[in-house]
Amino acid sequence: MIRKILDMSTLDKSLLNELDDYILSLEGKKEEHLIHVLHKAQSLFGYLPQNLQLYIARKLDLPAARVNGVVTFYSFFNEKPVGKYTISVCMGTACFVKGADKVLDRVMEVTGTKKGEMSKDGLFTIKDVRCIGACGLAPVLTINDKVYGKVKPKDVDDIIRHYRSIQNDRK
Ligand code: FES
Repeated sequence: MIRKILDMSTLDKSLLNELDDYILSLEGKKEEHLIHVLHKAQSLFGYLPQNLQLYIARKLDLPAARVNGVVTFYSFFNEKPVGKYTISVCMGTACFVKGADKVLDRVMEVTGTKKGEMSKDGLFTIKDVRCIGACGLAPVLTINDKVYGKVKPKDVDDIIRHYRSIQNDRK
């Protein structure tokens, strides 16, 4: 049997204590609160690295595979560090038939970032997601909470430029 080693050296102890307090405050069966615990952990740490997932699995007495299955199923959970702006390109059917794949390609090209990765400047994280329920606006992308509809690949340059300029103005 392979036993996974829990290396917590990269996790901030005070944040782990806060997570422990949150888990202790939960009533009823701990395993039923998995999604809430993951949300709390992501809000504390910014993302959910493997060792944090394993820590949560042990705390909730769940198999590590179950925790990882939930993390990878929901697009709002991140296993890697995320940029200031998360660009989510919808790859649902309505968006796909209207060229979402070309929009995604352009997003990756303009930001110099692969799907699932964070840009070198820490500004953007690129994701492809399932239908976000705005099919009438296909193809759709979101940047954090803002929705962009009927996006063409050539629109991507201006959209990204806008977020870069916000950043530069703040420097
Ligand atoms: S398929 Fe993209 S919003 Fe529904």
